Amino acid sequence: MTDFLSSDTLSGLVQGAYIVAGVLFILALAGLSKHETAKRGNVFGMTGMALALVATLVLAARNAAILPDQRPFAITLTLIVVAMLIGGSIGAWRARTVEMTQMPELVAMLHSFVGLAAVLVGYNSYFEPGAADEGSLAAIHSAEVFLGVFIGAVTFTGSIVAYLKLSARMKSSPLVLPARHLLNLLILIVSAGLMVWFMADHSDNAIIPLLIMTALALFLGFHLVAAIGGGDMPVVVSMLNSYSGWAAAAAGFMLSNDLLIITGSLVGASGAILSYIMCRAMNRSFISVILGGFGSDGAVTGEVKDYGEHRETNAEEVAELLANARKVVITPGYGMAVAQAQYPVAEMTSKLRARGVDVRFGIHPVAGRLPGHMNVLLAEAKVPYDIVLEMDEINPDFPDTDVVLVIGANDTVNPAANEDPSSPIAGMPVLEVWNAHDVIVFKRSMATGYAGVQNPLFFRENSRMLFGDAKERVDDIVRALG
Ligand code: TAP
Repeated sequence: MTDFLSSDTLSGLVQGAYIVAGVLFILALAGLSKHETAKRGNVFGMTGMALALVATLVLAARNAAILPDQRPFAITLTLIVVAMLIGGSIGAWRARTVEMTQMPELVAMLHSFVGLAAVLVGYNSYFEPGAADEGSLAAIHSAEVFLGVFIGAVTFTGSIVAYLKLSARMKSSPLVLPARHLLNLLILIVSAGLMVWFMADHSDNAIIPLLIMTALALFLGFHLVAAIGGGDMPVVVSMLNSYSGWAAAAAGFMLSNDLLIITGSLVGASGAILSYIMCRAMNRSFISVILGGFGSDGAVTGEVKDYGEHRETNAEEVAELLANARKVVITPGYGMAVAQAQYPVAEMTSKLRARGVDVRFGIHPVAGRLPGHMNVLLAEAKVPYDIVLEMDEINPDFPDTDVVLVIGANDTVNPAANEDPSSPIAGMPVLEVWNAHDVIVFKRSMATGYAGVQNPLFFRENSRMLFGDAKERVDDIVRALG
């Protein structure tokens, strides 16, 4: 057994398993990019992770057998299994109980664990460098430790602040300190100086720059995210997703684990691409998001412009309008998720389609509170994929649409984004629902949406408000349709 464990064949097998797991992770990402293939993507990811775990355990068994001063493998295995059972149970419980609307805050919290893990791996690797402490490897190892701890610490506190803001435990308005950009720059410059000190100092004193940098990086993570307002939080979550990937890749370098490097890079790169796509969807530059200061908690930008009177309607009137329509487009938003209205919406859709009405959905890329939020809800309610269209696909069709149902959406259908250069959401691409013949807006009040700006759509000639909980109102329409 010991012979086999120390053999080259075993190393080859483990490396082979890592490569297969890496390929499975790439297939998982490819699968997750479309709803039709998302389940398959998840299965690829889970299989890859199971394979990676088994290969890593085999590696641990081998190290215990051939390296001197290793604790018995049985103890290592017990520790790993106990930790996995505790972590896995908490994870399974949270995944089952979390509401779809709380998903971003859960993701933000999970990113903070990756950041913390990278910091702990960094310190562990500093105290126990192993073979990496000799010759030219020492300098590379020091750089890995320093950068890994830096990225991990920024990710850790940044993710905690994102979690607190998203769960409304902290005000979502930006914290704007005087000279805040200068402060961030200063922290970066001082950290670079500390890195030079850390790499040059081979005595026990090297811990000093490492500790100072950790404190600075923890503050930087807090400050970077605290300076970003509520409206930009989706981008921040995906940016932290990217950071957590780079933190994992850094940990992979420190642990000389190729698979962790591959996985971390995949997460890092896909998070960065997602952040870029979301910035484009909101017409904000990535740099301006990172530098922060935009967005509000709803109170600051509620301007006092007089838009005139709004008109109200009721479920029976809307049912009649729909039954007589040729083309209907539904644009859902965060309110549909809050009300859990996707099931009656799906029922209403199938009733109308059975009557020969052409019903389609128009999805804004940042509708809801996380990318793909609306698509997931509609898929859950079994709305056919082929009638769910993206914003760019549906926008040219609005002039030829009889009725648009805006269900719990606000910012994503705000004409001020196109027409009012002074609006905080000016330039953000929106669903141009006002071009349709009739627009029915489902919401509970005249309150503003996430960005805290009033919506002139509600006061247009062709708009009518259907007040109340979106689920109850759609249920009423379904009943009225018979
Ligand atoms: P919002 O602009 O937030 O508007 C949602 C509307 O739903 C509100 O005006 C609210 O009005 C209404 N509503 C809430 N509960 C309701 C219920 N039970 N029944 C009926 N209506 C209800 O949503 P949106 O149009 O989807 O825009 C998304 C916004 O969130 C954007 O500003 C975006 O930048 C931001 N954001 C997006 C993401 C991602 S990645 N998707 C993540 C975080 C933030 P009442 O209170 O009057 O009912």
